Amino acid sequence: MKILLFGKNGQVGRELEKTLARLGELTALDRQGMDLSNTDGIREQIRRLRPDVIVNAAAYTAVDKAESEPDLAMAVNGIAPGVMAEEAARLNALLVHYSTDYVFDGTKPSPYTEQDTPNPLNAYGRSKLAGERIICANASRFLIFRTAWVYDGQGRNFLGTIKHIGAQRPELTIVDDQVGAPTWNREIAQATVQAIASYLAHPDPKQINGIYHLTAQGQTSWFGFAQAAAEYGLFAGLAHPPALRAISSAEFSTPAKRPMYSVLSNAKLLEQFGIQLPDWGVSLRECLTGADAQ
Ligand SMILES: NC(=O)c1ccc[n+]([C@@H]2O[C@H](COP(=O)([O-])OP(=O)(O)OC[C@H]3O[C@@H](n4cnc5c(N)ncnc54)[C@H](OP(=O)(O)O)[C@@H]3O)[C@@H](O)[C@H]2O)c1
Repeated sequence: MKILLFGKNGQVGRELEKTLARLGELTALDRQGMDLSNTDGIREQIRRLRPDVIVNAAAYTAVDKAESEPDLAMAVNGIAPGVMAEEAARLNALLVHYSTDYVFDGTKPSPYTEQDTPNPLNAYGRSKLAGERIICANASRFLIFRTAWVYDGQGRNFLGTIKHIGAQRPELTIVDDQVGAPTWNREIAQATVQAIASYLAHPDPKQINGIYHLTAQGQTSWFGFAQAAAEYGLFAGLAHPPALRAISSAEFSTPAKRPMYSVLSNAKLLEQFGIQLPDWGVSLRECLTGADAQ
């Protein structure tokens, strides 16, 4: 089986490059290998490689910057996945793609299901929603995983940012009124491989095409996430670890508006694939203190 992975240098892509190799012959590309704003290039690449499975972990993920670059965000997140979907359909290949909790507006008081109506609050969310819709309209075999608050123990993410700033400041102020589920990149990749294997073994896989929520269990705020990370040693090694202080979103102005509540129900994923990720705190501890922690 031939597998083509886009976005091998991203958080999820890095882990997928390791786990997808278990399923078949993997070609993994970074931005240099395939810039997703080049739609002709995507077509050519897919036609040349003729993969059985395409996994798209590349995305424009700079949520605030997308407010001033909405066309580029839309090209990468909303248009490129449509080209992948068309080409995958020509080959009868499976397209696996990721979307976000930021397709929702955060006004629901209980976990969002796949049946809930998206209403993104920002340009990033609109571009990701466009990507979902163009895949649903054009792919013949597809899985879209909506995930949230992705982190790993290194790299560019919330944890990396507070670790970096925490080394320079005595106090960090962190938003305490946005609630979601921090999700470990490694677990997203492992669940993806498991779901692909189940999809391909299904007697009538098109029946299970669709959007699935894929996040850690439980919920917390950015402040709660930071507190737990501090407890699990994020700031270990600093002579003066920063104090953490909770603030409201109103006190922390950002170009992009974010949903106040974006917890996703994973019931559909559990029912279809038997997959349920651990509680966010359990995974965070493993990420920061486990055998592979840096
Ligand atoms: N990060 C989150 O908190 C979060 C939350 C919900 C959903 N998601 C979704 O989960 C998926 C994986 O996210 P992630 O956290 O792994 O993102 P990430 O770490 O930001 O990685 C995204 C990758 O996409 C690549 N990329 C950006 N623009 C590109 C372009 N024009 N052409 C080719 N590659 C390009 C980046 O390349 P460079 O390395 O060269 O910059 C990067 O390697 C995405 O679909 C994202 O929307 C993420």
